[in-house]
Amino acid sequence: MGTDLKKVLITKEEIDAKLAGLAEQIDAEYAGRELLLVGVLKGAVMVMADLARAVRTPATMDWMAVSSYGAGTQSSGVVRILKDLDTDIQDKHVLIVEDIIDSGLTLSWLLSNLGSRGPASLEVCTLLRKPDAAKVAIDVKWVGFDIPNEFVVGYGLDYAEKYRNLPFVGTLAPHVYGG
Ligand code: PRP
Ligand code: MN
Ligand code: MG
Repeated sequence: MGTDLKKVLITKEEIDAKLAGLAEQIDAEYAGRELLLVGVLKGAVMVMADLARAVRTPATMDWMAVSSYGAGTQSSGVVRILKDLDTDIQDKHVLIVEDIIDSGLTLSWLLSNLGSRGPASLEVCTLLRKPDAAKVAIDVKWVGFDIPNEFVVGYGLDYAEKYRNLPFVGTLAPHVYGG
């Protein structure tokens, strides 16, 4: 495992500090309201678990699982729902929680899908964003870290389903993914 990683990009301590700061901003924004946190499976599980405990705003949680399909390994922007929300989000203050925005295609689709369900408000909080990989512009209210366009794993992020349980975000050595 150790040799699979090139380097630690963001430490657990840096993630904790960043999420504490984001939670303060989120608490200020939603003061006096009830929040519905929507986590995007599976990558967002760690951010969701830690962010949900960092906010003081009363919050409920729901989950969505989506899958991009189409030719090739790149996200096509065509998204299929593998697991829909359990709850009706109409008139709710919804905050989508993501681990990373890469091309932005998943989130772009999700925003229009959830937006059509009549939420009182709809915002996004993502731990990571790759500005150089963006294929669509998305209005994201809360971003933890902008990172270079490199393959990253850990803290929910996988390569072929592995490395999600690393407590930090790291870059993968090229030999692992045949680079
Ligand atoms: C990853 C990541 C985001 C999405 C970002 O999920 O967790 O949800 O890709 O990519 P995009 O901005 O190019 O659309 P993935 O589809 O790998 O599923 P996972 O969360 O189960 O790993
Ligand atoms: Mn994901
Ligand atoms: Mg993935």
